[in-house]
Amino acid sequence: MVVSQQRAGGAREVFISATPLRLLTKLPPFNVHPVQRIDMEVPPLPLLLGSLAVSAAVWYFLFVYGGAAAGKRPLPPGPRGWPVLGNLPQLGDKPHQTMCALAREYGPLFRLRFGCAEVVVAASAAVAAQFLRGLDANFSNRPPNSGAEHVAYNYQDLVFAPYGARWRALRKLCALHLFSAKALDGLRAVREGEIALMVRNLARQGVAQPVSIGQEANICATNTLARATIGRRVFAVYGSEGAKEFKDMVVELMQLAGVFNVGDFVPALRWLDPQGVVAKMKRLHRRYDDMMNGFIKERKAGAKPDGLAAGGDDGNDLLSVLLARMREEEQLDGHGENITEIDIKALLLNLFTAGTDTTSSTVEWALAELIRHPDVLAEAQRELDAVVGKDRLVSESDLPRLPFLAAVIKETFRLHPPTPLSLPREAAADCEVDGYRIPKGTTLLVNVWAISRDPVLWSDPLEYQPARFLPGGGHADVDVKGSDFGLIPFGAGRRICAGLSWGLQMVTLMTATLVQGFDWTLPGGASPDKLNMEESYGLTLQRAVLLMVHPAPRLLPSAYAV
Ligand code: HEM
Repeated sequence: MVVSQQRAGGAREVFISATPLRLLTKLPPFNVHPVQRIDMEVPPLPLLLGSLAVSAAVWYFLFVYGGAAAGKRPLPPGPRGWPVLGNLPQLGDKPHQTMCALAREYGPLFRLRFGCAEVVVAASAAVAAQFLRGLDANFSNRPPNSGAEHVAYNYQDLVFAPYGARWRALRKLCALHLFSAKALDGLRAVREGEIALMVRNLARQGVAQPVSIGQEANICATNTLARATIGRRVFAVYGSEGAKEFKDMVVELMQLAGVFNVGDFVPALRWLDPQGVVAKMKRLHRRYDDMMNGFIKERKAGAKPDGLAAGGDDGNDLLSVLLARMREEEQLDGHGENITEIDIKALLLNLFTAGTDTTSSTVEWALAELIRHPDVLAEAQRELDAVVGKDRLVSESDLPRLPFLAAVIKETFRLHPPTPLSLPREAAADCEVDGYRIPKGTTLLVNVWAISRDPVLWSDPLEYQPARFLPGGGHADVDVKGSDFGLIPFGAGRRICAGLSWGLQMVTLMTATLVQGFDWTLPGGASPDKLNMEESYGLTLQRAVLLMVHPAPRLLPSAYAV
């Protein structure tokens, strides 16, 4: 995530003499443009960075030593950073893992500096609880960043909306039409129907060709959400080029959102866009905006191209509701602002990006773990056969009677939380945590990945053992809904994931159906215990290598008929 504002009082490093651009060009992760590209009208970069460094030195002195001299609490400990860039060059290509290692050295609350931005990282359940339960009101905003500016319609969306009336109104809208118990129930047939379609498609493909299960799950998650939100599928044909293009768009967005953008943290380098991130964001935004304009135009013309109804099959999908409210000039938040097309596009952007890749990558990780652990897969299949049988697909009403499957899902979220550093928050005022001072404007990152692998909390933390969530397993009462801080894949507190109910239901039903419907083998007779489990970091945690599998149907043929 990326931050663009000058912070009020953050510690700064002294940096005067080195040649900054030469240093920057040596940093592999940031891919800085060569010096020749600098426009001669612009003040030379060394001069800019030099002045930045001098002011940083002054701030550092006043803030760190001034604070200590005045008897204030100390700032949390942390590693020394580079001049100007701070700790950014030290994050590596898997920042959640780097930060996990740093917590071992500096403790569960440590401090980093990203350019001019002060950052604290919470890496234990106890520290996360202090921030997200005790001090949640103080951390209910997200730090400003170029993704919110250039992709999310300049903060007009829900994910980056400042905490307040507008944010509340947007969350209420989503709850009312999609995520409340009533709305969720109304859309049950849509979820079950799309998952059944995915399964039928897999059964039809047979075992001849391996399939990318992440891609299939992504198409399913996207089409399901699309029917609920815009009243139509986004991908008419499974496995089509269009499907790939849409997923690529979401994955690129997540990757860009996951980049720590130097320009956001070092205002003097903003104009240079050293990693080319902003240029890519603008291109992506144009592609998304064109697509959304197409959907809105189509809906205004009254069309539903694939003849699908949504919103519980009464045609009352979110887009229709919002367009109707716009026509009636309704206010969004009761403060004089009418709903606009930008509001609608920004909200849909959030739902499509936050709600598709997170869901499908979890299903892909779940399948990978089950293939690596055949005994666990067999146990889950035994449970499904006993509760559901072999002549129909599992339905949502069966889920409460599948405790072992629920444990499989929790264990997958524990080892593979889709957003390993959650989404950043920002301190609205000075506060104190664990005896350390957290200044106003500090960015908070919660390392949910490290917390759910903390050996203090979890025995054999790196082992995939769903039974730990069963009675007698030590964590039987733990769930993922934000009150057990050792397992918070959806975050916690006021800004907890708005789509938790939808995401959890989709991940559970999709995984259940795939487990029930098929036996799974790897291409070329590859051995399951050799399966590559490397991670690739973006805002969502993808598998570095796609999971390719052969699904072999294991139910009566009638079960696959839709
Ligand atoms: C496996 C599924 C999912 C996971 C693990 C997940 C995780 C998260 C996390 C960690 C956050 C940040 C919470 C915080 O700041 O404490 C978040 C926020 C959010 N998520 Fe999800 N999410 C998932 C699915 C979904 C779905 C299906 C949707 C909607 C269709 C969605 C929409 C959102 C939105 C709108 C926010 C911003 C909330 C706010 O700022 O108030 N997510 N999600």
